[in-house]
Amino acid sequence: MKKRRLPRIEKINEKHVLMVDDKAFIMLSGEVHNSASSSETYMEKVLEKAVDLKCNTLLTPVYWELIEKDEDVYDFSHVDQMIRGARANDIKLVLLWFGSFKNSLSTYAPNWVKLDQVRFPRTVDNQDKPTKILSMFSGEILEVEKKTFKKFMEHVKAFDQDHQTVLMIQVENEVGILGSTRDYSEDANKAFMNQVSENLVRYINQKDKGILSMGMNEYFDGDGADWKSVFGDRAEEVFMSYHYGQYINELALVGKSVYDLPMFANAWLKSGENEKPGDYPSGGPLAEMIHVWKYAAPALDFLSPDIYLTDIDEVCRAYTDADLPLFIPETRRDIWAVPNAYLAIGKYNAICYAPFGIESVGENMSYITQAKHTNTEDKNVSSPLIYDYLKATYRLFHCAHSTLTRFGGTESMTGFVQKQGGLSDKFIMDDLEIGLRFYHEVNRNGENLPAAGIVIREDLNTYLFIGYGYEAYLTSRDNLQVDYLSIQKLYCRNGELTEGMRLNGDEYNIRMEELPTAIRVKIYKF
Ligand code: DGJ
Repeated sequence: MKKRRLPRIEKINEKHVLMVDDKAFIMLSGEVHNSASSSETYMEKVLEKAVDLKCNTLLTPVYWELIEKDEDVYDFSHVDQMIRGARANDIKLVLLWFGSFKNSLSTYAPNWVKLDQVRFPRTVDNQDKPTKILSMFSGEILEVEKKTFKKFMEHVKAFDQDHQTVLMIQVENEVGILGSTRDYSEDANKAFMNQVSENLVRYINQKDKGILSMGMNEYFDGDGADWKSVFGDRAEEVFMSYHYGQYINELALVGKSVYDLPMFANAWLKSGENEKPGDYPSGGPLAEMIHVWKYAAPALDFLSPDIYLTDIDEVCRAYTDADLPLFIPETRRDIWAVPNAYLAIGKYNAICYAPFGIESVGENMSYITQAKHTNTEDKNVSSPLIYDYLKATYRLFHCAHSTLTRFGGTESMTGFVQKQGGLSDKFIMDDLEIGLRFYHEVNRNGENLPAAGIVIREDLNTYLFIGYGYEAYLTSRDNLQVDYLSIQKLYCRNGELTEGMRLNGDEYNIRMEELPTAIRVKIYKF
């Protein structure tokens, strides 16, 4: 019998493809709330909702503190029950390893780690105060965590390799130092005075597009010796990035040596240019740090941004320009959750799109705390409307899956989102200019979401329009007139896009509905 290959990222014709069972796969996903995986009953409800929303994958945490309550004694029951539940619902999983570092802090380390600050020292902030973050620069933390992570991967392999419900592992979560630019413990200070590896300097010099084109030229001095003289004002952040990268690389190496699933690290991004390292975790794989991370953590398959900005275009571009697949493990669940999926998948060939707190989509409160979100600008404000649109979108993407994976990452496919304040837009696709008119203003309280779509040129004269809330006009760039041979509404049936009503007469337009749908047009020019 042919051996079943593991999920993996492949580069095919210059584009990154996630292969699952040897077929291209897009994760139409959501990340669950942090505490969700610790309760089987809670997860049952989450899974029910995920199935209804047409998610094919969930991102779910696993907790070191529950796996190894006592040193060297392992209990994987919460991992198993989650995998079993997902399997029963035909949903794949990305497991998020909440180990030594979660949103900078070390709250998921077991108590025996927290309580032994001799074996497991803390980082020290710039006021010389120990923090809630474990330090990588001394003590036993790396060795101990490697041992546990290896056990964990051995367990996932034994429990799941025949099923392959688990597709990937995120190693740690949003690492970096919060509240300070770096670790100021004694051993970290010594390391900061060390000579920067010449290879790192050479690598950055070669790859300077990422690190230096993101406004860092002024900081970079390739001839220097220690971190400060090489990287100037950005030295602390680069130093922490390098060491977190190396730390996670060690975990990934040991994990992959037993079960070779794709592994990645995620980043807490800046929310504005005025933010300084320490306002956001200093040392995470932010766009500016991608090349430092790539150098320090070659065992990782990719780095990914948690995007809570409303306009995600620039971040998507930064990660894909750095030759990474776009994988969005977390994003807003407000009015931007749905439209941004069209941009991420349509324009940037995303292999994963996941609103955070997926089980709270549709609710104006967190499912776990039941706390209401009162600030209307909050990224967590959701509503039944958002639920309906997300469900219709994932359903449509599911039906269009083979088309999306076939054309994704090529010039024949793109995606767009209505911008705040704009009622029209346009873009070029080969010999056509595609004009867009949106039906409604962007407004947080209305009955509609910001419009969005994906356009695919299926062959020379056939275009597929997916999305909602817009009308499209085609103009030829070579001064010819454009007319339609046919306009066909498509329906999602039995997991496929099938041809439905033929549009003509009063409906002789590419006029999308208010809810996500698809239209295929054949054109000719004269
Ligand atoms: C980002 C973190 O990565 C998640 O685990 C969660 O804490 C969200 N923030 C909450 O918005």
